[in-house]
Amino acid sequence: MSDKPIYKRVLLKISGEALMGDQGFGISPDMLKFVSKQIKSIHDIGVEVAIVVGGGNIFRGIAASSYGMDRASADHMGMLATCINSLALQDVLEKNGMPTRVQSAISMNEISEPYILRKAVRHLEKGRVVIFSAGTGNPYFTTDTAAVLRGQEIHAEILLKATKVDGVYDSDPVINKDAKFIEDITYMEVLERQLRVMDMTAISLAMDNNLPLTIFNLLDDGHIHEVICGGKVGTRITK
Ligand code: GTP
Repeated sequence: MSDKPIYKRVLLKISGEALMGDQGFGISPDMLKFVSKQIKSIHDIGVEVAIVVGGGNIFRGIAASSYGMDRASADHMGMLATCINSLALQDVLEKNGMPTRVQSAISMNEISEPYILRKAVRHLEKGRVVIFSAGTGNPYFTTDTAAVLRGQEIHAEILLKATKVDGVYDSDPVINKDAKFIEDITYMEVLERQLRVMDMTAISLAMDNNLPLTIFNLLDDGHIHEVICGGKVGTRITK
């Protein structure tokens, strides 16, 4: 496998659940170190990396709203959860030798920089990993949508959605043993077949602006490096 990246700038979306490991809740220090190692493998070969992290390991806004909490309040709590994860990620990345900057969509200046697009791009050009926290700063939008939005704003060439599964199947592989793995699919097909890869808003936004998406398993050591170097890993969603 070549060590030459085919992308210069990428947006990596990491789910909150990916940070909790086997714990069922919160942040696993071992998992953080593992994730940091994966990110370092692409940062070291010169790729500009921006990250959006979810918050589901700490608080799930949608779940809370289904129990009767107002959706806006629940989502605000979820956004704060992403800020906690972003700071944890910043700490581990810096200990692993990667300069980082956290930019928050909700102002909390004592804790992180505000989101300023042009500053974020300068940070990336200087080799800093930029972590975008607090989603889009709005309730009713998921961190997947935030990832697509930021990916487009910074002109990332691809959005890598890191998950705990290998990619997209035509049905749930846990329930259906004959479920087929999908290597390539269009945005439209994902929408029409209502495949639960990302929420519909995120997919539509990516489609409108033609941002390629790759869904892959973050838990497979080296997979992110393979994707970046043009390997056939995960499911690719394009026009
Ligand atoms: P350059 O301008 O390229 O040198 O970038 P820089 O980020 O090193 O410069 P800056 O002086 O803006 O930031 C220095 C440090 O302060 C960095 O760690 C920033 O993340 C941090 N920082 C900058 N602005 C804010 C802010 O509004 N709030 C917080 N909490 N930290 C900030």
